[in-house]
Amino acid sequence: MKIFEVLREDHDKQRSLLNILAETSGDTEVRREYFQQLKDELESHAVAEERHFYSPLMKSDSAIELSRHGIAEHHEIDELVETLENTDMSSPAWLTHLKTLKEKVEHHLAEEEKEFFQVAGKVLSEADKDELAREYRKEIEKEKEKH
Ligand SMILES: [Fe+2]
Ligand SMILES: [Fe+2]
Repeated sequence: MKIFEVLREDHDKQRSLLNILAETSGDTEVRREYFQQLKDELESHAVAEERHFYSPLMKSDSAIELSRHGIAEHHEIDELVETLENTDMSSPAWLTHLKTLKEKVEHHLAEEEKEFFQVAGKVLSEADKDELAREYRKEIEKEKEKH
């Protein structure tokens, strides 16, 4: 397994959680449950991806800019999550904010998959791609234990 495949798997988890959440309504158990899952997914993915994808990429001049851009988007996503946490789930504003977060995350994942993976494919060696996949997985396990 290469790093791209493991990242893509977790991206798909985020996409399906966002799709499920967009169909929920009001302050319900289901919405709470899936929102918690989404927060855990986003947080552990960002930590592991920054350590085992962006950080090694930054060693290459041709990938510094995109790495910075990707990490900046993680922060924007964090802020949107915070806005949602501070919004009453029973108010219609919650779904509006969720849709903003959904668009942002979908844009970010598409950019990573369509643009960053291409650059990383050239910059990283085949051995790096395997090793980073293992390290990413280990980091995710550690992160999940915290939640
Ligand atoms: Fe990311
Ligand atoms: Fe990602």
